[in-house]
Amino acid sequence: MLVLALPGGEPLAAGLASQLRCDCASLQLHRFPDGETGVRIDVAVKGRCVVLAGSLDQPDGKTLPLIFAADAARELGALQVGLVAPYLAYMRQDKRFKPGEALSSRSYARLLSASLDFLVTVDPHLHRIHSLVEIYPIRTRVVAAAPLIARWLRSHVEAPWLIGPDRESEQWVAEVAGLAGAPWTVLAKTRRGDRDVGIRLASRERWPDRTPVLLDDIISTGHTMLAATQLLKRTGLGAPLCIGVHALFDAEAQQQLLEAGATRVLSCDTITHPSNAIRMAPLLARAVRELNADDKESRK
Ligand code: R5P
Repeated sequence: MLVLALPGGEPLAAGLASQLRCDCASLQLHRFPDGETGVRIDVAVKGRCVVLAGSLDQPDGKTLPLIFAADAARELGALQVGLVAPYLAYMRQDKRFKPGEALSSRSYARLLSASLDFLVTVDPHLHRIHSLVEIYPIRTRVVAAAPLIARWLRSHVEAPWLIGPDRESEQWVAEVAGLAGAPWTVLAKTRRGDRDVGIRLASRERWPDRTPVLLDDIISTGHTMLAATQLLKRTGLGAPLCIGVHALFDAEAQQQLLEAGATRVLSCDTITHPSNAIRMAPLLARAVRELNADDKESRK
């Protein structure tokens, strides 16, 4: 097996290769003066399972090098070519919210699937699409962050109260709460624009002796978490700890959350970010091992 780091994926690739006890290398990229990208693999791939590693935040600049690398590895004799992308892009665009909009999640899935044999990711944003197999025809493994978040909570927060900022977060909040032995609630969100979010209480549930823990799969602009934090403070429900599986937000959003009263903002390391506190590499490596074993079995 060989782990090949995609642009920006070096820490992930190193962590995976160390777990998988295999070689690790980086793609060689060249930016041509006209803006095109040259991709070169300068290690032997013939007869190997090549695992491309890199998260797909800021996906537009990363996707073409990924496709070129996957195709090159296959043409150079790789037995199989897979991708470990702890954050999978374009999953939220699963519906035409406005007439004429592209169904990007489906197009993106078709694009990646044409060049890959397998895909490993962490908690993709599944909402109207219920499972990755509905759009990815290749072998996929979804790694759940919930057990690791619940373990972190058990060792850091005495009596948590899990709160999801919207209905879509219920799947993650309910699972983490179940594993952490804590109560949970979800709030009601209205999104009016990218940075214009309204949140209100959806139930009369109160756990005044517990620490509110806001949990969402993605913190992007941070406005969902911000509105939820402000609501909890305003209604006397307490100062929350904010947890996101995928940290897309910037330093300014983090600062706004802390100023609004969040006690801490933390994330899983699916995207390299200063808020990373929960390490996913061991579970990602296990998923790769399982896929590789399945492939060997099917070749017998
Ligand atoms: C949306 O459905 C997701 O679960 C998150 O709530 C959303 O992506 C957060 O976005 P933002 O941080 O920009 O409000």
